[in-house]
Amino acid sequence: MKKIHINEIIKSVNKRLEEIILDDLPVLNDIKKFVIESGGKRVRPIMLCLLNNIYNGNSKGALVLAAIVEIIHAASLLHDDVLDEADTRRGKPSGKALFGSKTVVLAGDYLLACGIKKLNEFNNSQLMSIFTKVIHDLSTAELYQMEYEKNSNITIEIYNKIIYGKTASLFQAACESAALWCNLKKEEINKLSILGKEIGMFFQIRDDYLDYFNPKILKKDPFQDFQRGIYTYPIIKVKNNQKNGINKKIHKYFLMSDKLRKNKEIQKDFMNLLHENNSKEKTLKDLEKLGESISLRLKNLPNGISKDLMEEQFKRLLNIN
Ligand code: FPP
Ligand code: MG
Repeated sequence: MKKIHINEIIKSVNKRLEEIILDDLPVLNDIKKFVIESGGKRVRPIMLCLLNNIYNGNSKGALVLAAIVEIIHAASLLHDDVLDEADTRRGKPSGKALFGSKTVVLAGDYLLACGIKKLNEFNNSQLMSIFTKVIHDLSTAELYQMEYEKNSNITIEIYNKIIYGKTASLFQAACESAALWCNLKKEEINKLSILGKEIGMFFQIRDDYLDYFNPKILKKDPFQDFQRGIYTYPIIKVKNNQKNGINKKIHKYFLMSDKLRKNKEIQKDFMNLLHENNSKEKTLKDLEKLGESISLRLKNLPNGISKDLMEEQFKRLLNIN
């Protein structure tokens, strides 16, 4: 019974994607098919629709908002795989590998245009400002991340700013727009906005944790962030221990050539360094703390089947083992 419910949401979101993403050219039709069949879990739209159910919002409009959220996400991933030169995503060929960089960059822009065009139909400046903020956050976060590549001066505050922009902002927008759509009071909107932000932050720190400590869950090769020279949570968390001069030791690896950081022996040495400094335990401890805060926020939602589904979804989504 519960399973059908989530599958129904996914089916309805896909139907909206089918309508909202136009296809002025054959290649855009191919991209549209690629986006719809990409194997994404539709986490953000599901969250928006479940919140809408919890607060008795109009589901027709919520589904359109959910599809817009997914379109922005899909556009950002098309662009991201070009920036990261990634030929695979979710264990399958990426858009970049299938269609080429030039095409997917333009197709990403096209997707955004389709999403904004649909959003405009709501004639709602608050919704418009939520989603334009997300697009702003996504682009600036990627630029910020590039600026801090291989830069040992990165702090946890800068890292948080980057992952807020590249991941948490869209989760937050999904929750906030559901709250707005349901005409909730300001205080309630704020609560859901924080819930979305925390889920997004957790999601990204978890991703960064798994990249080193349990990559199989992510269905991608390990050490992606290390290879790209990106300082992530498990490193930043331990790098400022002045006693053992670990910052310098870590930085040495980030000064190596990209080719060397792809070397298995180098990666093994780096893992030893992380283990010696309890990076795994420290990161897990922080994730647990954030996870507890999210669980409490979920627990405080109004009771009902959609709340149960939301809690179930997030237990699975935020799983680290
Ligand atoms: C994935 O991070 C990246 C993102 C979620 C955001 C990408 C955003 C842009 C490229 C800016 C352009 C924005 C728009 C709206 C078109 P990752 O590379 O760490 O994770 P991955 O393993 O999923 O690739
Ligand atoms: Mg990437």
